Amino acid sequence: MQNSIKPPSRGQWGSSFGFIMAAGGSAVGLGNIWRFPYITGQNGGGAFVFVYVLCVLLIGLPLLLNEIALGRKSGRNPVGAIKETGGSGFWQTAGVLCVLVCFAVLSYYSVIAGWTIGYIFTELINIPVDFEDFVQTPLYVIPLCMLFILMTISVVLGGISGGIEKAAKFLMPVLFLIIILIAARSVTLPGAGAGIEYYLSPDFTKINGKVILSALGQAFFSLSVGWGLMITFGSYLPKTNNVIQSSGWIAGMDSMVALMGGLMIFPALFALLPGVSPDEGPALVFNVLPRVFDQIEPFGNIIGGMFFLLLLVAALTSSISMLEVPVAYFIDERKWSRKKAAWTIGIAAMFLSIPSSLAAVKGNFFNQLGFNFFGRQIAGFFDLMDFFFGTLAIVIICLMLSLYTGWVKNVKEYASELAMGAVSFDGFPKKAWVFFIKWICPIVITLVLLNMIGVFGEPGEGG
Ligand code: PFF
Repeated sequence: MQNSIKPPSRGQWGSSFGFIMAAGGSAVGLGNIWRFPYITGQNGGGAFVFVYVLCVLLIGLPLLLNEIALGRKSGRNPVGAIKETGGSGFWQTAGVLCVLVCFAVLSYYSVIAGWTIGYIFTELINIPVDFEDFVQTPLYVIPLCMLFILMTISVVLGGISGGIEKAAKFLMPVLFLIIILIAARSVTLPGAGAGIEYYLSPDFTKINGKVILSALGQAFFSLSVGWGLMITFGSYLPKTNNVIQSSGWIAGMDSMVALMGGLMIFPALFALLPGVSPDEGPALVFNVLPRVFDQIEPFGNIIGGMFFLLLLVAALTSSISMLEVPVAYFIDERKWSRKKAAWTIGIAAMFLSIPSSLAAVKGNFFNQLGFNFFGRQIAGFFDLMDFFFGTLAIVIICLMLSLYTGWVKNVKEYASELAMGAVSFDGFPKKAWVFFIKWICPIVITLVLLNMIGVFGEPGEGG
């Protein structure tokens, strides 16, 4: 009974290119340029990069297709998609989790985007900033974050296709060019070799449970998989779209930008700031990049300003899609107007962003909040949000969605959905996808989760 569910008359992407740009715009964001390098730094460098690439190819890509299939087949938001395809309340909680994750991550993602706005100005005016002082000044950080959420709301209010999609089509390629320029400067700095080696030559002894969970979590964060976003965007796809080809572009673009992001940071870090450790966390990019811009003569600061401006655009194309998921849910399932949904969720995210902004201020309550999760110590409100929503919940959602299509439903129907518009998918690729969704994805994710709670030895680190 293929496609027994008739999609409701909703919007559709105008072209494949439009979909690739919108989904690629969602994927390419702060996750590639800010999160990927610091998570790499915290997980031992090259070994993490190696595991990350495997996670993207073997787990991320099949799950990306899984979400698109679910979305296009049902023509609904994440909760509606599972409801429409006959999923019970239990499976629908995966959809509810998607809505929650998007909302929660939007709140702290906007804090980083706010820092980015600050850096556009300090670069252009060419005033040196002490990152530690900057993030500990709520008077700057909170309004900048609010401004970013307001920008996000205003785009979502107006619909995505007009302004931002057009702008992204032009601005994303410019961002790629600037990244290449900065990476080229970074790798040619005297003393860059140590950083290149740290980043690109894996030391396999560093791979443990924590590294694998972080790599998997980062792959899902970066690809926008496990958030219901690809279900939502997939629901706007016509049956003629070659989703296999589109997914290849999205994953390829996303991985290239992340890998280049590391190439901008690590060589420069080792060359210019030998005292700073690569595992210093979220501050990494903001500490390192301004030093690289100082080394680009002349007009380094202008290039710096442009870089942060484009990073802001990348963050905006991601945050609008994050807001779009809960908005689509409230429109479809609760019959809210787009205006009511965008304002209510946006303003709620503003409130929730405040503790994340304050978490950077040393000694305050939100900075000192801590939690011990099966031996893994998580410190501060920001890190708590990033761990529970930005990593753990996403991994659980991916597990549930693969079990749902792989075992609860007839997986072949979803494989046929993918083959529609992509003739070359029939045959071996289709069989391979079914195998990955039924076996590889759930088994790997379950092992990683069990490992995290200490089933195989030392909790958290993998033993
Ligand atoms: N993939 C984005 C990034 O790497 O920054 C984050 C993201 C945006 C995830 C939107 C999910 C989403 F719906």
